Amino acid sequence: MASESKKGQQMWGGRFAAQPSDIMQSINASIDVDRRMVREDIAGSRAHADMLAEQGIISEADNVAIQEGLDQVIAEVLDGSFPYRAELEDIHMNVEARLKEIIGEPAGRMHTARSRNDQVVTDFRLWTRGALTEARRSLKALQRSLVKRAGEHTDAVMPGFTHLQTAQPVTLGHHLLAYVEMIERDRARLDDCARRLNESPLGSAALAGTGFTIDRDATAEALGFYRPMANSLDAVSARDFALEALSALSIASTHLSRLAEEIVLWTSAQFAFAKLSDAWSTGSSIMPQKRNPDAAELVRAKASLITGQFASLQGAVKALPLAYAKDLQDDKQLTFSAFDTFGLCAASMTGMIETITFNRENMRAAAAKGFSTATDLADWLVRELKMPFRDAHHVTGALVAKAEEKGCDLPELSLEEMQAVESRLTNDVFSVLTVEASAMSRQSYGGTSPVRVAEQVEQWTQRLG
Ligand code: ARG
Repeated sequence: MASESKKGQQMWGGRFAAQPSDIMQSINASIDVDRRMVREDIAGSRAHADMLAEQGIISEADNVAIQEGLDQVIAEVLDGSFPYRAELEDIHMNVEARLKEIIGEPAGRMHTARSRNDQVVTDFRLWTRGALTEARRSLKALQRSLVKRAGEHTDAVMPGFTHLQTAQPVTLGHHLLAYVEMIERDRARLDDCARRLNESPLGSAALAGTGFTIDRDATAEALGFYRPMANSLDAVSARDFALEALSALSIASTHLSRLAEEIVLWTSAQFAFAKLSDAWSTGSSIMPQKRNPDAAELVRAKASLITGQFASLQGAVKALPLAYAKDLQDDKQLTFSAFDTFGLCAASMTGMIETITFNRENMRAAAAKGFSTATDLADWLVRELKMPFRDAHHVTGALVAKAEEKGCDLPELSLEEMQAVESRLTNDVFSVLTVEASAMSRQSYGGTSPVRVAEQVEQWTQRLG
């Protein structure tokens, strides 16, 4: 049981004779989470109070007192002396209560024509807007490092895989730029989300709007929103902006995870395509030879945490009738945590990519294995002998079988051995069988040829500034 001494502390306590139980307070309080929105909360209150004064709903003197009091509150937040109190539930009531201690009665006028329902979601939209900007920035940093590394390796040949089976030679630059493209779409999704969320719920009050003659355009503008939201029920209860942000983060973290998986593979002794710098490797407490790619593995794991956070929030929202319900309080923990995790993952990937060293020789050697230029041979038959591609595919298959039988690669078959399969083959065919020739030849737009990759590197460098 809560003690009698707490009586009267709850701002909503007017109709209650007894205090909430301690456990009720624990499940109800969100201050440990939503204190992160203190700046947004103060910004929202400042805009609201200015508007109330402008509209003649509160006096100018009260507004001055409120603004000056909020100056002190923000100073206390910055110097760490602001007292966050769990018994005051959330950041909104903590700020208002502290303001009341500082300025007295005018603090109580600040909440005119407002409810915590529009207040909280205003703060949350502002916070998410800022977090989206930060997430986009962290992805841009990763793109820059990928483009830089791609520029160093436009002509480094490596095996391209399908089904993780050697398919055709590709260039490392091309492979790295594939992630730059994915991340660009991730950034566009985040940007799109930031634009769609940028409408102001403030002034929707509890759910139905207010009888006071407020100016919602003014508060929207003061807070950098494009416009006020048009439906107060929607404004206080919609969380699709957070769902959209989390789904975009989930997709983006899926891309980070795929890149992380490449790093795990490439740095293994079996691939030996790359080596992480010391700063991004960890040792084993028992096996002295180990250099583990822990950060990459954790990025891989954390992608599913973010996806889980999206699913959790969606689960919380999907069965809520309009308008506000307290379930919505738990939106913030999920969202904050997803953005924190995402920021850490993006920064880790950037750190790894910036400092990883690629072993071009090993990549090239691996690219030459597994009959990776078989398609080039088939294409030669089509081009030089005018064979239908299907027949060329068949002939090449027979040549691959022959090489396999002999235990060698395609270019190591002799012309005689080849001619035993297709008599019209000439020495010229060997010119297309090297991995360099193969990669070089793929000059179609979007292809892996070093010339195309260099063009793309150039364009991305310009674009990313
Ligand atoms: N802390 C609450 C939240 O985050 C603020 C809104 C409370 N509104 C209410 N009607 N109890 O959702």
